Amino acid sequence: MRDLFDSTNLNGVKLKNRFVRSGTWEQMASADGRLTDRLLSVYENLAKGQVGLIITSYTFVTRDEQPNPGMLGIYDDRGHDDYRALTEMVHKHGSAIAMQLVYGGTQTFLPQSGQTIFGPSAVAEMATGVVAKEMEQAEIRELVKAFGDAAVRAKKAGFDGVQIHCAHGYFLGQWLNPHHNRRTDQYGGSIENRARIILETYEEVRSRCGEDYLIMLKINSADFVPGGATFDDCRYVCKELARRGIDAIEISGGIFAAEESQRWARPQVTTAGDEAYFAAYAAQVAEEIEVPVILVGGLKSLEVMERLLAETKIEYFSMARALMTEPGLIQRWMQGDRSKSKCISCNQCRHTEGNICILNRQA
Ligand SMILES: Cc1cc2nc3c(=O)[nH]c(=O)nc-3n(C[C@H](O)[C@H](O)[C@H](O)COP(=O)(O)O)c2cc1C
Repeated sequence: MRDLFDSTNLNGVKLKNRFVRSGTWEQMASADGRLTDRLLSVYENLAKGQVGLIITSYTFVTRDEQPNPGMLGIYDDRGHDDYRALTEMVHKHGSAIAMQLVYGGTQTFLPQSGQTIFGPSAVAEMATGVVAKEMEQAEIRELVKAFGDAAVRAKKAGFDGVQIHCAHGYFLGQWLNPHHNRRTDQYGGSIENRARIILETYEEVRSRCGEDYLIMLKINSADFVPGGATFDDCRYVCKELARRGIDAIEISGGIFAAEESQRWARPQVTTAGDEAYFAAYAAQVAEEIEVPVILVGGLKSLEVMERLLAETKIEYFSMARALMTEPGLIQRWMQGDRSKSKCISCNQCRHTEGNICILNRQA
């Protein structure tokens, strides 16, 4: 029988348990996306806290575009030594670390300074109103290549893998969303066409990093807005990625324009029944593909995850807010205190001086 504390192997990467720190923007990187001492200590606390696989904050892959301030960047080779120090530190504590790669696109709240922000079509983003520059095919090719370049840099700096961010309304996910994607070429219309850039991005990263490198993708179960990407779109992408050899898929949901109760980090997760709000979607995807599925969204209790591990084919359990409240949560559980996460899902974790939990002011 499977156990949450099983050690497993994801394309050669040894994981000491089934717990994942989901990609979490800390708002602590320098303005140009470099690591800071404060960020290093965030990651050190997670690694000391026995998280099996740590996924970094979303990390921007081109210099002139980032959706939020204080994010990490991997758009050139200059941060190499810092990232090397980060991965060595995490490995010293026996955890694995993957870098999450993103091009944010029009779901951005950073002030515009005349830079070009690409998207599938020249329409206003549903929440921010930012209008994309509709991409030419050569621009698509260039951006896909930028994901590959970024992944190669991450690999060289010692990251055990990368995760392509295709969730939450950012650029790659926008191609699945017919509001954003009104194209009539081979990148728009049918799901085969809307999924094309996502599959090309995966294939670029795979061909640049090799068969034996851990490559994952995070995707929305659905956008949860009228006219947005649907669960059928998600299932199609997951099946195609599985066919092409992806190593793991993390299932989330929602875009910024959705109601907060339909987004990725839902408020008021108080009972066990409120937790794991994307579990039904993740469980269905896990039935349909052979690739390991990672569930994220409102996970707080060991019992909930144990039940899902027993009753579904979901393999890994990913948390963001619970680990902001208690980076040592997994260790606490290992030491026998099985009480659930102290996170109260208040969603007060975003601060311009650094995203920290109001219950964990030392972070
Ligand atoms: C402060 C904050 C920052 C986040 N940053 C990212 C990110 O960089 N990349 C990402 O994929 N998701 C990000 N998320 C979403 C989480 O990874 C996760 O999908 C969501 O919070 C639900 O999980 P939870 O209930 O365990 O928090 C962020 C969430 C929060 C609260």
